[in-house]
Amino acid sequence: MNVPNHIAIILDGNGRWAKAKGMPRSYGHVKGCANLETICDDMKELGVKYLTVYAFSTENWKRSREEVEGLMKLFRSYLKKCLKIAERNQMRVKVIGDISAFDEDIQRKVIELEEFSKDFTELHFQIALNYGARDEIVRGMRRLARDAVDGKVKPEEIDEAMIGSYLDTAGIPDPDLMIRTSGELRLSNYLLWQMAYTEFYFTDVAWPDFNKAELIKAIEKYNERDRRYGGTKEE
Ligand code: IPE
Ligand code: IPE
Ligand code: MG
Repeated sequence: MNVPNHIAIILDGNGRWAKAKGMPRSYGHVKGCANLETICDDMKELGVKYLTVYAFSTENWKRSREEVEGLMKLFRSYLKKCLKIAERNQMRVKVIGDISAFDEDIQRKVIELEEFSKDFTELHFQIALNYGARDEIVRGMRRLARDAVDGKVKPEEIDEAMIGSYLDTAGIPDPDLMIRTSGELRLSNYLLWQMAYTEFYFTDVAWPDFNKAELIKAIEKYNERDRRYGGTKEE
């Protein structure tokens, strides 16, 4: 089995999963968060080098105050726990997205976790928090425009690699496989620039139920794909 170098996941379906059990949405988020710990161990075991998960989008602020507050509480405890998970898996953690919108203590926890894990190289784990691909492009292009105004960049020097270097994912290879759980067939503003040639895998399984067996199934499907990048099939 050829294991993808970089897997991106849209971890969706926590709310529906909980509702189906007669439980509040927050219960689904707690279980979904616990599953995030397990999946990091699984990725490490399978030899995946990069994992990027979508945990909170720029659009998710539209949810009820109660739900957003519950998620913030969960992020606080998860970011703390993640120090141990990072050490266990020798995993470097980075947060992508605009963290300036979060309370200061959350921002501090993010910086602490990134700093703590910066020399680990077994697994590169990106958590997308207050992330939206369009917002990422806007923020990056503002910085690029600033550098152009300051004379650091000439318009004719701008190429695809340079644009990539202004995004939150600078230095991280593009995803090979994108998995979305829980049945929705859309990107929801995730990694629009980075996923130009990524293979997509959609499953009806809800995020809290997505386990190692399901992950292997996704990787097996990925192995059946004929990746061409615009070329022709090799004989
Ligand atoms: C994904 O589950 C987690 C977040 C977006 C924070 P949802 O909360 O979107 O669950 P559904 O899609 O409503 O079931
Ligand atoms: C996408 O899921 C964002 C995250 C998983 C964090 P949503 O559940 O928010 O997306 P939509 O609203 O169904 O498009
Ligand atoms: Mg959803």
